[in-house]
Amino acid sequence: MLKKVGILANGGDVAGFNAVIRGIVKTAENKGIECYGIIDGYNGLLKKNFEKLSTAAEGEAEGILPKGGSIIGSSTNANVFNYKVVNEDGSVEYKDLSDVCIQNIKDFGFDCIFTLGGDGTQKSARDFSSKGVNVIGVPKTIDNDVACTEITFGYNTAVSVAMEALDRLHTTGETHHRIMVLEVMGRYAGWIALESAIAGGADVALIPEIPFDINSVASKIQNRRKRGKEFSVVVVAEGAKPKGGDIVIKGKRDNGAGVDNTKLGGIGEIVAKQLEELTGLEARNTTLGYMQRGGTPTAFDRVLSTKYGAKAMELALEGKFGTLAVIKNGKLDYASLEDVVGRNKKIGAVSGNTEESNIRKVTMDHDLVKTARDIGINLGD
Ligand code: F6P
Repeated sequence: MLKKVGILANGGDVAGFNAVIRGIVKTAENKGIECYGIIDGYNGLLKKNFEKLSTAAEGEAEGILPKGGSIIGSSTNANVFNYKVVNEDGSVEYKDLSDVCIQNIKDFGFDCIFTLGGDGTQKSARDFSSKGVNVIGVPKTIDNDVACTEITFGYNTAVSVAMEALDRLHTTGETHHRIMVLEVMGRYAGWIALESAIAGGADVALIPEIPFDINSVASKIQNRRKRGKEFSVVVVAEGAKPKGGDIVIKGKRDNGAGVDNTKLGGIGEIVAKQLEELTGLEARNTTLGYMQRGGTPTAFDRVLSTKYGAKAMELALEGKFGTLAVIKNGKLDYASLEDVVGRNKKIGAVSGNTEESNIRKVTMDHDLVKTARDIGINLGD
């Protein structure tokens, strides 16, 4: 019997967080279950920061379907299994504070915790589950790289934002006879770049899964010129790298120990400069950045998020703890958290989303790759 459940949103924000929260709360309310938001991701679990969520008039979860961000906050640096503690003398220690969280869960009487997040978040969820906590995960990330599901919530909105940017870059590129490069997010997976390139009619898509040869891209652009097209549009994933080269790193994040602290970015500028040199055409780079994460979810993401929220609550009611709500063969389903992150062992207790982790990358037999090739999008190889 479930009486009280907690919801936490963790990791980088996406459009659709609130729609999932609403989906869980509405389904729970129909069964007479009380819902609480755990504020600022796993931090809230540690600090016992819980807020009642209801969809009644004036309730915190009322009217949130179209709202961007997360009404319960989120955290990109709350690794409670390896938590950064700053001592009074300024020294820094990393401690496993998961037992404090578990005590807080018991004291407050949560029967289940819903963890909305990507690979790193679900890895912590799996570790809580191994310690006996009832956990259900919901796969979130604009990067679309969570294992065992065909799509994560937030991804479709990110692709739509990138598509709109490409439409706009098309007209300015065409006017000035320029190569317009768009650098998009996605970390070590090329989903956003590939899908937005198809949606936005780009000529080139460079993704991490296919190390690129800049000469191949330049030839594509020269061939377009021969056909009278004096402009080209190129999408570059932030994790794309040249053949035999490395990913471009912008800096380091301070997201705690044992998590991927690499800040990706900068490859778009490099590609633009090289293409300018190779083709003689002017080139400009635009880095899309956090536009991809903020704002209202698309219709697709609103529906997907609502489905995920309702399914997650259903899984809890069925007692299927230690699982992630997923989409498999186009339908709602579930996978064990162990399968989702279990192979992600290389980098310690709770980290996620590194090149080595169990993330879902673009495979060469995927329809998006085939379609891109069929219509002549250059993939840099
Ligand atoms: O994982 C989502 C994401 O937006 C990535 O695409 C990007 O590399 C990263 O987060 C940026 O992280 P931060 O919010 O720490 O700058």
